[in-house]
Amino acid sequence: MIRQRIRQPALADKVMSATQAAAFFKNGMTIGMSGFTRAGDAKAMPRALAERARTEELRFTVITGASLGNGSDGLMAEAGLLARRLPFQVDPTLRNRINAGEVMFIDQHLSETAEQLRSGTPSRIDIAVIEAVAISEDGIIPTMSVGNSASFVQQAQQIIIELNLSVPLALEGLHDIYLPAARPERQPIPLTRADQRIGGAAIPFDPARIAAIVITETPDSPSNILPPDDETRAIAGHVIKFLECEVEAGRLSHDLAPLQAGIGTIANAVLHGLTDSPFRNLTMYSEVLQDSAIELLDSGQLAFASASSITLSSAMNQRFLANLDKYRDKLVLRPQEISNHPELVRRLGIIGLNTALEFDIYGNVNSTHVGGTHMMNGIGGSGDFARNGQLSIFVSKSVAKDGRISSVVPMVSHVDHSEHDVDVLVTEWGLADLRGLAPRERAPLVIEHCTHPDYRPQLRDYFERASRAGGHTPHLLGEALSWHAHYAQRKTMRMD
Ligand code: COA
Repeated sequence: MIRQRIRQPALADKVMSATQAAAFFKNGMTIGMSGFTRAGDAKAMPRALAERARTEELRFTVITGASLGNGSDGLMAEAGLLARRLPFQVDPTLRNRINAGEVMFIDQHLSETAEQLRSGTPSRIDIAVIEAVAISEDGIIPTMSVGNSASFVQQAQQIIIELNLSVPLALEGLHDIYLPAARPERQPIPLTRADQRIGGAAIPFDPARIAAIVITETPDSPSNILPPDDETRAIAGHVIKFLECEVEAGRLSHDLAPLQAGIGTIANAVLHGLTDSPFRNLTMYSEVLQDSAIELLDSGQLAFASASSITLSSAMNQRFLANLDKYRDKLVLRPQEISNHPELVRRLGIIGLNTALEFDIYGNVNSTHVGGTHMMNGIGGSGDFARNGQLSIFVSKSVAKDGRISSVVPMVSHVDHSEHDVDVLVTEWGLADLRGLAPRERAPLVIEHCTHPDYRPQLRDYFERASRAGGHTPHLLGEALSWHAHYAQRKTMRMD
């Protein structure tokens, strides 16, 4: 079985335990680990390193594709291993350490990490830890994500491969590995359709840099998204109606444009809603595929899906892996630099669908900072798509925390996506199409269409008074963040 998976015989003597491989790491190193939204993450080495950190000083900069599964980020944070972490995370323990100021977290556009690494920022990769389904004659075959793995392998001094026997070999052939050249030799990326392949099936590597091969059998953590509810179904309904109108107006064709959908419960539910839509022959050019993408492939509405990772619930994962042959010619996994590349997002005319924590009456969006200060997860790829796509749609429930927080506020407490990058805002109450509108025209739409009725009078009052005070984008600066301050003091944004 191992021979089937290690097809370069000279590497056979590199097989060792995770504890033995952990001895290669030195305090202060920069580590590149595979893993993107819980898929294809290194599983054994984070544990072995956390174990080592119990008895000695060991602190690293850890760079991944995106979030890890199997509680690895929490485990490494608890062990004090993480001095610096980028570019994305979703772990509650790590989140607490970031918000306590103990871990320096760099919240970065996911297309940008590989580009910055090329110029040695924040530092060059010392050791790459990459989960693989096999080591073929041509290179490393990744598992359920590609993320930044190809860039890590290209740059690392040493490479540790976690060969995961629980992942079927049938995944081989699903990946398309292409990395842009360093500047100034960079050429246009030769991709003009979502279903195109432009690279090889494996990550090329220098065998002399392989330090260890660690055998694992731990599966990916299942995704923990919630099923659609009344609100997310209503949001999906508004988005689909809007897209139908775009088709009627001749701005989109019946197969729309390649779709991107962000992480989380709401984006998944909106995409799930497309199974009841009239659209056919759809394509996705996204960074992550959730259960809804597989449902759309099964219903025949989605013709092709391109992404950097596949993260599924347990039941969907079983169904997917058992029927891989059915999906083989309808899917491709790419490096995240390619799945999220601004050049390609603009060229393909992507429709980006991402989730906001809150947005304001003029269209600025906060996707990352609770109350303006506390990191939730990170910007992920939402900025790559929002900034460069053909249409940038942001969805959110109109209220959070049992109605004590309004997701529509006078001014967002942190800006991830500025009004210039946001076309359409949607909550369960309705949709505001901001295209072609000035700030004073946007605010009434956002208030009347998207805001929860409980908060509309408060918001109308703010906008009317701010408008009288004047300005292109009217605000009362002493009051603009008062809703957040009120919540911090009284645990509600409802003013008496
Ligand atoms: N203030 C404070 N908390 C808020 C909030 C607000 N305005 N709006 C939502 N929340 C809380 C919810 O109460 C919920 O908390 P809980 O986990 O304690 O129940 C949590 O945020 C998640 O919100 P939910 O409504 O369940 O949405 P979601 O699962 O779809 O996640 C984001 C929403 C914004 C956190 C998530 O989409 C994200 O991290 N986005 C940024 C990254 C991104 O967009 N990547 C896209 C490319 S993959």
